[in-house]
Amino acid sequence: MTAPGCTDCHGTHTIADPKTPKWQVDVIRECGGCHTQYIKTYRDTYHGQVTDLGYSVVATCSSCHGSHEVLPKSNPLSKVSDERILSTCQACHAKANANFVQFQPHANKYSKESGLILYYTTKAMQLLLAGVFAFFGLHTILWLYRGLAEMRKRRGEGNEEKH
Ligand code: HEC
Ligand code: HEC
Ligand code: HEC
Ligand code: HEC
Repeated sequence: MTAPGCTDCHGTHTIADPKTPKWQVDVIRECGGCHTQYIKTYRDTYHGQVTDLGYSVVATCSSCHGSHEVLPKSNPLSKVSDERILSTCQACHAKANANFVQFQPHANKYSKESGLILYYTTKAMQLLLAGVFAFFGLHTILWLYRGLAEMRKRRGEGNEEKH
């Protein structure tokens, strides 16, 4: 994977004004084209779902990582470094505090690394969902079976009355 040049994010012949909300929402897909795992986890969050609907009031990748000054978290100058993350969130969440920034914007609910509570809650919800469908699936099949049996029985009784 190579680092992006101007055109990766801004395009070539169809360069749009980067200040428009539409472009800022569209560029998420450009970031996500290279950072596939990060866009997947981003889409699981409130920010990611709202921007997926086309609204730009919530955080895009660039709201948290910057646009031309994107740096790894380990660099203190990064917008998501321990030193700067609070002010990054506070740009929109005025009341954000140290506790609020514990939120994991890239939590992977299928990996134990993002925390056991999230991992097992996800597993439990999947089991519950599968259980509900299995139960009602079986219920519907038995109901159908019973219905057919009764219909057959009633038809049988009808024939007897004619004799
Ligand atoms: C990683 C993606 C990315 C790359 C690479 C990139 N940009 Fe941008 N650029 C952005 C984003 C996102 C914004 C919008 C910033 C904002 O939210 O205001 C932007 C804004 C701009 C703007 C208008 C706002 C400003 O800062 O003045 C210009 C001009 C610009 N970019 C030029 C360039 C040029 C020239 C290059 C190559 C040297 C480049 N960009 C590379 C993502 C990128
Ligand atoms: C053309 C592919 C490409 C695009 C588009 C792209 N990136 Fe990157 N990005 C990279 C590469 C390559 C690195 C360096 C990775 C490394 O050094 O391990 C990187 C590094 C990063 C890092 C630092 C993490 C690290 O491991 O160094 C962040 C954060 C990041 N990009 C966010 C973004 C955001 C936000 C956008 C959109 C505005 C974006 N990227 C667009 C390829 C891309
Ligand atoms: C709400 C703020 C927020 C948004 C929105 C967000 N990120 Fe992040 N991102 C973070 C934080 C905080 C970290 C560091 C902790 C972590 O890795 O989970 C991070 C880590 C990363 C890293 C690894 C950086 C490193 O140094 O290892 C990449 C790459 C990245 N994000 C890309 C993206 C892309 C691409 C998007 C959009 C699809 C995005 N992020 C949206 C806050 C955000
Ligand atoms: C560009 C503005 C912007 C930035 C930057 C931003 N957010 Fe948000 N975020 C929003 C908006 C708008 C909402 C909608 C709900 C609200 O207003 O609280 C939201 C919602 C949320 C929610 C879910 C709703 C809730 O209030 O529980 C969480 C969690 C969240 N943000 C965390 C963060 C964290 C952590 C950061 C910093 C790493 C961050 N946000 C950065 C705009 C932003």
